[in-house]
Amino acid sequence: MKKQIENRDDISFLVHQFYAKIRADKEIGFYFNEMIQDWNAHLEKLTDFWEMNLFGVKKYNGNPIAVHNKVDEHFGDKITANEFGIWLNYWAQTLDEHFEGENVETLKRRARKMSTFLYMSMFEHRKKENEI
Ligand code: HEM
Repeated sequence: MKKQIENRDDISFLVHQFYAKIRADKEIGFYFNEMIQDWNAHLEKLTDFWEMNLFGVKKYNGNPIAVHNKVDEHFGDKITANEFGIWLNYWAQTLDEHFEGENVETLKRRARKMSTFLYMSMFEHRKKENEI
């Protein structure tokens, strides 16, 4: 039987497994491998992020919208729904590989919701760049 997602250690494990897949992906790996200098810090930050998201622990204090606008800009405003689709597939795949239960579904849903926000804000951001 697979495990439920119960605590920070579970989230940390999930985040590590997930980014190993992302980094190795031919289509989207380079976005991460090029931008992220300190992988330990990144994985710790993403653990903070999802721990806050799932368990309400307030340690994460970043701004994902601003960060993704910056990533999009860095790569010439070319990120599409395809990249988000690949990201979301790995997320669901990693969750299902290692865990089961209600929190698995919650994390899939939250990531889907967030991808919509990130994607929409990238478009808004591109528009503003072009207006200047
Ligand atoms: C549902 C989709 C996604 C979620 C929930 C998500 C979430 C996050 C979060 C929380 C961070 C940390 C932000 C911070 O520094 O405080 C991050 C960083 C990052 N994300 Fe995403 N992300 C998603 C999709 C993507 C996609 C599709 C790409 C690229 C094609 C991407 C590229 C990056 C990169 C390169 C960073 C690190 C930026 C830096 O440290 O300078 N993300 N993401």
